[in-house]
Amino acid sequence: MVSLVVLGAQWGDEGKAKIVDLLAEKADYVVRYQGGNNAGHTVTANGKKYKFHLVPSGILYSGKKCLIGNGTVIDPKALLSEMQALENDGLDLTSLKISPLAHVTMPYHILIDAAQEEARGENKIGTTVRGIGPTYADKISRTGIRIKDILDETLLRTRLEAVLPEKNAILSKLYNKPELDLENILETYLAYGHSLRPFITDVSLDLFNAAKNEENILFEGAQGTLLDIDHGTYPFVTSSNPIAGGATIGTGVGPLAINAVIGVAKAFTTRVGEGPFPTQLDGDLAKILVAEGTPWAEFGTTTGRARKVGWLDLVLLKLAVRVSSISSFALTKLDVLDDMETIQACIAYKNKKTGEVYHDFPLCEDMANLEPVYKEFAGWKNERSRCRDARSRKDLPANAKEYLNFIEETLGVSIDIIGVGPDREEIIIDKSPFQARSLV
Ligand code: IMP
Repeated sequence: MVSLVVLGAQWGDEGKAKIVDLLAEKADYVVRYQGGNNAGHTVTANGKKYKFHLVPSGILYSGKKCLIGNGTVIDPKALLSEMQALENDGLDLTSLKISPLAHVTMPYHILIDAAQEEARGENKIGTTVRGIGPTYADKISRTGIRIKDILDETLLRTRLEAVLPEKNAILSKLYNKPELDLENILETYLAYGHSLRPFITDVSLDLFNAAKNEENILFEGAQGTLLDIDHGTYPFVTSSNPIAGGATIGTGVGPLAINAVIGVAKAFTTRVGEGPFPTQLDGDLAKILVAEGTPWAEFGTTTGRARKVGWLDLVLLKLAVRVSSISSFALTKLDVLDDMETIQACIAYKNKKTGEVYHDFPLCEDMANLEPVYKEFAGWKNERSRCRDARSRKDLPANAKEYLNFIEETLGVSIDIIGVGPDREEIIIDKSPFQARSLV
């Protein structure tokens, strides 16, 4: 039995969907453990493009059980319309199951997310405005509404009567927005609950039984390590725990139930939204990394915003390895570096004022004071082979191999899967980690 977490090792958008799609084929369960419809990815299969926000992409394979855990936040309107679109595309959703303990994104969460961002002005976080932060805030404040609450009129009325007056006061008094009507919300959300009722399951118990039956489980992380509410670049983070530990809390399995963690990282770095980004580039080099005009150009799937791009940051990846026990890496988009003259990788940060050098992420430094220390690599532009054409590690250009070897040595973790192009078959599965080997 393999129980594997696939997570983002950077600021999200690392190309997790392609890796999950690859590994899901051999999994019995594919499970989302955090985040909501702030996540977004497109998977091309059978000549069709499918858009996913909350539904695990494992649903593309018939017979896989796809679970949405208690650690996620669910906007039922968005989930139901995603489900409808997938059904219209001919997918069977009977194996989709949802935890009744997941928190519900209510209309006031979305309105408050937008109003808070507006009020932050220059200090805005750049959220996806899907109500994610306010939904998690209510969960922690114990004022949230869970999926189980929208299945029962009395329960939902009691919860709304307790919560809505405060939300309406915030909307009207603090943000000068119209108040929301309780009866209206009640009716709408009970209807959503009615539609979701057939999908409800005890995710924790299902996974416990799956493990007992030696079935393979794939936990699919959303966002990435540096957007983690605890270990990321706070406050420019999301409100959940994308790191591997999030999978245990967000689904109700114990830590010993997980036996492999695949960190997905791009061969460079990207970020959407606001916040520090030490290795950010602009100008011509950025243009190469953005790959504008190609179907794999760097634009957010959920919001369509252009992503900022920069060199690979190994200080941040070392943090990702440490906080999630990453046991192997999937490095994506190596082919995008095919046209680079030289390539840099950040190996440390230097404090511009004091000259102090940090090889590990310094928790108490203001990132504005830090500049990256780079190691330069020769590109492979002038070699005969290109990454895009390689289908095994030995086919890669010599300089690309050198770049990969250095990353592995620095992180102490092997790169077992390498993405060399956008298509499903443009991938090198070099030496899968022991646990993952039985999956691929
Ligand atoms: P929120 O999750 O909508 O609250 O947004 C908080 C931060 O996380 C913002 O910087 C977003 O751009 C970022 N973010 C949220 N979801 C994703 C994602 O799926 N990929 C990349 N960044 C994301």
